[in-house]
Amino acid sequence: MTNREIHITYEEYASIEELNAEDRELAVEAIKAMQGVYAPYSNFHVGAAVRMSDGSIVHGANQENAAFPSGLCAERTAMFAAGALYPDKDMVSIALAGGAFGRLGKEPATPCGACRQVMAQYQAKSGKPMSVIMISADKIWKFEKVDDILPLIFNSI
Ligand code: THU
Repeated sequence: MTNREIHITYEEYASIEELNAEDRELAVEAIKAMQGVYAPYSNFHVGAAVRMSDGSIVHGANQENAAFPSGLCAERTAMFAAGALYPDKDMVSIALAGGAFGRLGKEPATPCGACRQVMAQYQAKSGKPMSVIMISADKIWKFEKVDDILPLIFNSI
């Protein structure tokens, strides 16, 4: 038996102002995207913004439904819209911001497993790293690639 380890590194920023210009713009767009939330059941608001390889930015926000599984997270709303609008472009980065009743929390909102898997798919489609930026009121986390938040990604078919 061999013990093996997986190391993950990521960047933490004290505020949006500390990010580079592109990431700052995407973070601001993710916060703006929270305006599109429809979350009458959880009241948990999440906005997401995807940057495409041509610089376009696509917004998403969580959409809930009385038949709970029919709703969709902000990140997948954004990525599926981006995939449909720009089928020939790559997704280079995604930012998300969220919190109860639309107020950003102390800790960054982190994507659910299903959204991570969808990020992994679009990253694989592009063949290049897709960075993931998670935003809160007090700190920002940046992961350089989806592998960092979904080690041992399933992509075998
Ligand atoms: N949600 C997102 O939109 N993104 C996440 O990363 C986690 C959760 C949504 C789904 C649901 O509408 C609400 O937040 C509560 O789970």
